Amino acid sequence: MITIDIRISDISHHYGENRVLSNVELTAKHGELVALLGPSGCGKTTLLRLVAGLMQVQEGTIFFGDKDVTHMDPRKRNAVMVFQSYALFPHLTVGENISYGLRVRGLSKNHRDERVKEILATVRLEDHEDRRISQLSGGQQQRVALARALVVNPDVLLFDEPLSNLDEKLRISMRQEIRRIQKEADITGIYVTHDQEEAMSIADRIAIMDSGIIQQVGSPREVYERPVNGFVAEFMGECNYIEYNGKTYMVRPDGLIPSIDGTYCGMVQWVEYLGSMTRISIEWKGKNLVMDVPSATLGETIPKTGNELRFEINMENAVAMKI
Ligand SMILES: Nc1ncnc2c1ncn2[C@@H]1O[C@H](COP(=O)(O)OP(=O)(O)OP(=O)(O)O)[C@@H](O)[C@H]1O
Ligand SMILES: [Mg+2]
Repeated sequence: MITIDIRISDISHHYGENRVLSNVELTAKHGELVALLGPSGCGKTTLLRLVAGLMQVQEGTIFFGDKDVTHMDPRKRNAVMVFQSYALFPHLTVGENISYGLRVRGLSKNHRDERVKEILATVRLEDHEDRRISQLSGGQQQRVALARALVVNPDVLLFDEPLSNLDEKLRISMRQEIRRIQKEADITGIYVTHDQEEAMSIADRIAIMDSGIIQQVGSPREVYERPVNGFVAEFMGECNYIEYNGKTYMVRPDGLIPSIDGTYCGMVQWVEYLGSMTRISIEWKGKNLVMDVPSATLGETIPKTGNELRFEINMENAVAMKI
C-alpha cells in the first residue's frame, strides 16, 4: 500500500498586499485526521484551498506522499473537499449524486452501481439510494456529500467546516461519523473548524492558527493542557491566571477544587448548573476565577452567590505562562 502523508512546507500567501499565511509548516501522517483550528479570517480556508489546488501556491511546497503537488492540476491530486454547503444536485437522487464522479471518470455502469452500494453502506444510507436530495434531512445530506467525496477513492480528504449548517445534536453525532468513516477508509485528512470542541473530538492532532501563523500543533490533550502561549490557552478553553512563587500560571477550571478545609478562600460570584458539571465563578485576590466541579461531588451543598468558598489549587497541571 502507498502511504500518503500530507506535507505542507513553508507556505506563505498574499491577497494583494495582505499577507494571510506566513511560513506554514504542517504534516498530516497517513491515516491521520488533523484539525486546523483558528478564529474567523485567520487563513484556514486559504490554506485548504492551496492544498486542494483550487488556488495557485505563491511560496512554499505541498507534497502528498512523495508526489510534489505544489503546482499540480487539482484533478490529478486525488484530493476531495467537503464543504458546509453540500453542493449536491437537488434534482438528482442520492445514488445519482454519488455516482456522478464515477461517471465523469468513465467507470462502467456495473462498477458504478457496485461502488455506490458499498459507499452507501459506509455512510449508513443503504435505504436512501433512490431518494431525491430535497427529501433528506441536513444530516443525511451531509452524509451524501461525504459519500460523494469518498466514492472516488481519494488519497486526501479536506473538510472546510462541514458541520456548521447542522444543529448541535446532529453536529455532535456527525463528527463521530466522520471520524469513523475517515478511519475506516484510512485516508489522510485535514479538517478546518473554528470550534475547539469539534476539533478536540474529531482530530488526532490539532494545529492552532492565528493571523496566518501556526501557533502550536499537538494532540487535543497537549494543546489543551500544555498550551505554548496565551493565544492557544484561551482559544482552547477557559483559563485562570494565578501567581505562585513569583510566576504566573495558567490553571484550567478543573484545577480549582472546592474543599471544606481548603487553603484558599474566595467569594462566590455566580453559579451555573450545567448538568454533569457545575461552573462556579469566584472572586479571589481581586480577580475572577472559574472552577468546574462535577455536580455529583457537590451533593446538597451547592455554593450560593455571596458565600465564601474554600478551595485548593492543583498546581500539578498548572502551566507557567508569560503574559
Ligand atoms: N479572494 C480573496 N481576496 C482577498 N482577500 C481574501 C480572499 N479570500 C480571503 N481573503 C482574506 O484572507 C483572510 C483569510 O481568509 P480565509 O477565508 O482563509 O479565513 P478563514 O480562517 O477560513 O475564516 P472563516 O473561519 O471565517 O471561514 C481574511 O482576512 C480574508 O478577508
Ligand atoms: Mg473559512
